[in-house]
Amino acid sequence: MTLKLGVLASGRGSNLQAVLDAIDAGRLDAQVVMVLSNRQDAPALERAALRGIPAVHLPPSEYPQRLDYDRKAAELLKSAGADTLLLAGYMRLITTALLDAFPGRIINIHPTLLPAFPGLHGHRQAIDYGVRFSGCTVHFVDEGLDSGPIILQAVVPVHPDDNEDTLAARILKEEHRILPEALQLLAEGRLRIEGRRVIIE
Ligand code: GAR
Repeated sequence: MTLKLGVLASGRGSNLQAVLDAIDAGRLDAQVVMVLSNRQDAPALERAALRGIPAVHLPPSEYPQRLDYDRKAAELLKSAGADTLLLAGYMRLITTALLDAFPGRIINIHPTLLPAFPGLHGHRQAIDYGVRFSGCTVHFVDEGLDSGPIILQAVVPVHPDDNEDTLAARILKEEHRILPEALQLLAEGRLRIEGRRVIIE
């Protein structure tokens, strides 16, 4: 079934772009119905507007309570027809207001091999820790921090001379590959959550 995607993004929006490109190429059965950002200057909003996708800046300053912010976001995304949410570089913790509005239908992309290095500055955390491999994770979102059931992961080496930027670039390529793949599995109804595990049928 065609996914009606609401995308939440705080920045550059290269993952949003990867999703749009996969849709254009016929690799992903989805439609992006709205892009919503907490940041007015997010290039992700511009990418959406360029394609005629409703692009909404929802300023956190107007909703000091995170629950109220998410209630409003849920209302906007629902009224755009979203049935699934994608957090694509969305740098805010979401609350039950969004989780309850889209139960089992919120997906996040994180630039480490979870459960290692959740939260902010994943690349720096990985380099500082000294891991030989890192990667990225696409997972369902639950109430914890980057803690929901894992759909797909990809692994990349960490080189001795890597800095945050070089590692991030290597990982980003894999993000752009596995994110549309994971969404397509969801579109095909092939993902089943069993406790912590996601079964791919
Ligand atoms: C991506 O690397 C994504 O994994 C990361 O932010 C970047 C957004 O890039 N997300 C997180 O760190 C979430 N905790 P993009 O705006 O170009 O898609």
